[in-house]
Amino acid sequence: MTDIKTALAGLSETAAIQYLTEQFPGAVAFSTSFGQEDQVLADMIWRNKLPVRVFTLDTGRLFQETYELMDLTRARYKQPFETYFPETAAVEKLVAEKGFNSFYDSVENRKECCFIRKVVPLNRALQGVKVWITGLRAEQSENRQALEALEWDEARGLYKFNPLVNWTYEEMLAYLDKNNVPFNKLHNQGFISIGCAPCTRAIEPGEHPRAGRWWWEQSKKECGLHG
Ligand code: ADX
Ligand code: SF4
Repeated sequence: MTDIKTALAGLSETAAIQYLTEQFPGAVAFSTSFGQEDQVLADMIWRNKLPVRVFTLDTGRLFQETYELMDLTRARYKQPFETYFPETAAVEKLVAEKGFNSFYDSVENRKECCFIRKVVPLNRALQGVKVWITGLRAEQSENRQALEALEWDEARGLYKFNPLVNWTYEEMLAYLDKNNVPFNKLHNQGFISIGCAPCTRAIEPGEHPRAGRWWWEQSKKECGLHG
């Protein structure tokens, strides 16, 4: 871990990803939710033809605007990405027992839905992966403040690489603008952090960027992907 950290120090995001693909050939994967951070990373990966597997988790509850962006991104870069869906039987059982909107009833129910629709498919997507690239930024929330660019994910037994960890929101917007990267239409309608449609709302000026995620909860507002 220390050796890799030393090697990565001072490298650009692209050079760092390139280095990791050389150290772990065929075992580097990037998870994209098609949020602004992830569009920056997708642009870096595809523009530079880095040998990174790209995948997304379709919970079945995403915004139509997110699907539009997925298609727009596919058309723009002409690069493949995989889409992982939840296990059919698990979703069928959940809605049969608790209905379609059980996540509003309790944090426990909400985490159950996230577990079935996101965490299990994520773990399937990460099988055989040694380096998992994410678009996490420290600035996004209190829980993420201590985040480092390279972390060891003990539970999954892999390195987690967060190239944008120290990027500010403004830096991210500047990159998208400069490189003419497509982004979700919802960002122009007050949405910042975008997840599933029933669990995301626009925020008011001055509100915390993640205030629109699971807005009815006082919880830590994580879904189990990242703790
Ligand atoms: S979440 O845990 O609250 O949903 P957030 O939306 O901040 O996460 O995204 C942080 C990172 O998690 C993204 O940059 C991406 O790497 C990963 N991620 C989140 N949602 C998805 C998804 N639906 N598909 C793939 N990766 C995702
Ligand atoms: Fe289910 Fe909402 Fe979690 Fe999406 S964000 S998986 S709809 S609880």
